[in-house]
Amino acid sequence: MPADKRNRSILITNALPYANGPLHLGHMVGFMQADIWARFQKIRGHTVTFVGGDDQHGTPIMLGAEKQGITPQQLIDNTEAQHRESLQGFSIGLDNFTGTHHAENQRLSTEIYSTLKERGHIDVRIIKQAFDEEKGMFLPDRYVKGTCPKCKSADQYGDNCEVCGTTYDTTDLIDPYSVLSGKPPIEKESEHYFFKVSEFESMLSNWKDSGALQPEIANKISEWFESGLIDWDISRDNPYWGFEIPDAPGKYFYVWLDAPIGYMASHKIHCDKTGDDWASYWQYGHSQKSGTELYHFIGKDIVRFHTLFWPAMLEAAGYRKPSAVFVHGFLTVDGAKMSKSRGTFIKAETYLKHLNPEYLRYYFAAKLSNNVVDMDLNLDDFSARVNSDVVGKMVNIASRCAGFIVKRFDGMLAIESAAPELHLEFANAAEAIAARYENREFSQAMREIMALADKANQFIDEHKPWILIKDESRLDEVQQVCTAGLNAFRSLCIYLKPVLPNLVSDAEAFLNTRELTWDDLQTPLLNHKINKFKPLMTRVESDAIENMIEESKESLEEISTLDPDSPLAKDPISDEISFDEFAKIDLRIAKIVKAEHVDGADKLLQLTLDIGGETRNVFAGIKSAYQPEELEGKLTVMVANLAARKMRFGLSEGMVLAAGPGGSDLFILSPDDGAEPGMRVK
Ligand code: 2FM
Ligand code: ZN
Repeated sequence: MPADKRNRSILITNALPYANGPLHLGHMVGFMQADIWARFQKIRGHTVTFVGGDDQHGTPIMLGAEKQGITPQQLIDNTEAQHRESLQGFSIGLDNFTGTHHAENQRLSTEIYSTLKERGHIDVRIIKQAFDEEKGMFLPDRYVKGTCPKCKSADQYGDNCEVCGTTYDTTDLIDPYSVLSGKPPIEKESEHYFFKVSEFESMLSNWKDSGALQPEIANKISEWFESGLIDWDISRDNPYWGFEIPDAPGKYFYVWLDAPIGYMASHKIHCDKTGDDWASYWQYGHSQKSGTELYHFIGKDIVRFHTLFWPAMLEAAGYRKPSAVFVHGFLTVDGAKMSKSRGTFIKAETYLKHLNPEYLRYYFAAKLSNNVVDMDLNLDDFSARVNSDVVGKMVNIASRCAGFIVKRFDGMLAIESAAPELHLEFANAAEAIAARYENREFSQAMREIMALADKANQFIDEHKPWILIKDESRLDEVQQVCTAGLNAFRSLCIYLKPVLPNLVSDAEAFLNTRELTWDDLQTPLLNHKINKFKPLMTRVESDAIENMIEESKESLEEISTLDPDSPLAKDPISDEISFDEFAKIDLRIAKIVKAEHVDGADKLLQLTLDIGGETRNVFAGIKSAYQPEELEGKLTVMVANLAARKMRFGLSEGMVLAAGPGGSDLFILSPDDGAEPGMRVK
């Protein structure tokens, strides 16, 4: 969708990070995606406001402060200062940054809640919840653990079992205990406030199909509709770190109620400073009239909050709904979840100590698309890509041409370029590249921009100014060739300005121009004096990457002291198990006494395994590599104490281990060479 010439008024947000830990590179995916898009819209001449802040409420912040011996206010202030610094370090150009504990957010949250209540969208119900008598507090699901009612695995969270995947109510856990006191919680009744989301089902269904969502997200929502919308519990009992609910002593807004309202509050604070018209972005009728646009960038884990609860709340309270919610996937590093022991759980501040932020901005841009897939930061690919594209292709054009202009022509560009057709080709790509940016197909945009950089380098290779310069009679030609090269470089700067704002700002100083805009693509810089060239970006050093990884490594002791219930531990970022956990795994030699095909299963074989006096039935996904008859009588290794899992075809009582890349290369066997079935493998 090429942007038209109309001046659009665009408000952009990125998910507000929790104020209980430092920002890491996973956070930077959303921030960079939103920032690149915001900068692109700005350079196109639109009115853009990009606001953010910290998400400062909730139980983990309250308990985190208690653990550090400080007040929650001190904790959120400290974190806000760190977050601001990291965001600035990565040139995230937020127009305002205000945390959700701000009075403006309290005012708006209270106002919105009161409207919902007046309009009959709030229900009060008595519910039973786990309560820690020693701590004197109700326990969120993640703060209760116990034995899974289904598969009987110990130490499972109160909402779902990580072993068998069953979801259940906290009250179903066997032998539950509070992770705060270790004591069994009691069940206690309390009044809770519910927002009746189900009343908004048809509105949400229309909104879902209005083009506001990526197709995979719209599908996900359809699934939720099928299972029926459940009203949303928006209150929490004292003690809680949040805003008190008006006329409900001892009750607080659940953190997720006031978190998205934080977008509105942050924007309001911005408008109070600048005089911008807040209401034209948020109030229903006003925003419709003024055609303002609102976009939220979020990660795939918080879709429900932003695509069901949030638009329903806005609608119910008389505000506009988002023009679109843009969802991105998670970040992996070198193909795996970020890991503290491997040093790939990289904090933003650690990255910034070792590497240029624009390396990462470029790399993320080169990999980001508009779908919800996870993105991998492969560290070898990272340096190769940055070195080859930005340093080797783009910056190289300037360094190949600038010296001749500065030394031989007193910094003056020629009055005529040697390659008007090259300039035209660059200028003609503008709308296609703009459409890529507009649709958040950044990787495709980077590919198209680098293809242009290749053309500019080929042009210089063909004309060889370093040879021409030796011939006094061809000096004009040198000046014109280098002028063409530097104009190509200037166009690339415009195209990459949303991604590389610092590099381009240095390039503007070198080219001795005012701030470049998209319109400048159409007119070359001629008969103009430039400044001396300084290297605009140096190559990524592998030592710097190694040092960053080394500094990010935390010892096992440090990891095990991490509060197991901090959201950091809940994030899908730490994939370590402790030695004790490993030691629990019972690996046994098993003899395959029978192997059979499974009716209706593409990948599975059914194995009967003898582990010394006991037989087990196991379904194994090894059909791609083995015929049943080759397996019978052979030995393999199995996990003997894995909780039994009910599968469509029957009960699977353990798991066989396999090596190999998969497909037909999958190895599970040892010949029967005398090892005894049932022997422990340790
Ligand atoms: O998941 C999170 O990190 C939340 N802190 C995001 C909040 S986004 C918005 F609603 F504030
Ligand atoms: Zn279970």
